[in-house]
Amino acid sequence: MTKVLVAYFSRSGTTEELAHQLAARLSAEIDVIRLPSPAYAGVVGYWRGIWHALRHHLPDVACQRDPADYALLVFGSPVWAGRLSAPVRAYLTRFAGHIGPIAAFWVSGSGLAYPALAREIEELTGRVPLATSSFSRREVLEGATGDKLDVLARDIRAHVS
Ligand SMILES: Cc1cc2nc3c(=O)[nH]c(=O)nc-3n(C[C@H](O)[C@H](O)[C@H](O)COP(=O)(O)O)c2cc1C
Repeated sequence: MTKVLVAYFSRSGTTEELAHQLAARLSAEIDVIRLPSPAYAGVVGYWRGIWHALRHHLPDVACQRDPADYALLVFGSPVWAGRLSAPVRAYLTRFAGHIGPIAAFWVSGSGLAYPALAREIEELTGRVPLATSSFSRREVLEGATGDKLDVLARDIRAHVS
C-alpha cells in the first residue's frame, strides 16, 4: 500500500477532526503542523491570524514527519481571511521542493468553495492537487461530513495503489 501522509494545522479543532477521519479512511499516517508559541490563540491571535494570512506571513512551524518520505501528501487547513492559514502556507513553502503528488481540504465558517485556496496551493507547490474538498465548520461540528469525506477519500485512493 502506498504511503500517504495527512498533515494539518488546526486552531480550534475542526480541521483536526477531519484530518483524523480522512486518515482513517486512507489508512494514512498523520502529522500535526505546530507552532512553537500560541501565536494565534485568543482574540489577539485571531486578528494576528487574519493579518498574517493577508500578508502571506510565514510563521515558524514544526512537524514530526517529512512529507518527502510519502508517495502522497494530503493536507488540511482552516480558511483564514479567504486564504490558506499562515501555518499551512509556511509548511508548504518549507517542503514545496521536496513533495510529490498532493491533495488538500479546507474548513471555513461559511463553507464556501474558496477556489482561491486551490490557486494558492498551486502557486506555492507548483502542483495541481489530485483532489480538493471544502467543508464548513458547522458540517464538522454536526458530524455531517461523511459523504464528502468518502468522495474525497475515493478520489485520493484513485491516484494511489
Ligand atoms: C484568523 C481567522 C480567519 C478566518 N477567516 C475566515 C474566512 O475568511 N472565511 C470563513 O468562512 N471562515 C473564516 N474563519 C473561520 C474558520 O475558517 C473556521 O472556524 C474553521 O472551522 C477553523 O478551523 P479549525 O477549527 O481547524 O481552526 C476564520 C477563522 C480564523 C481564526
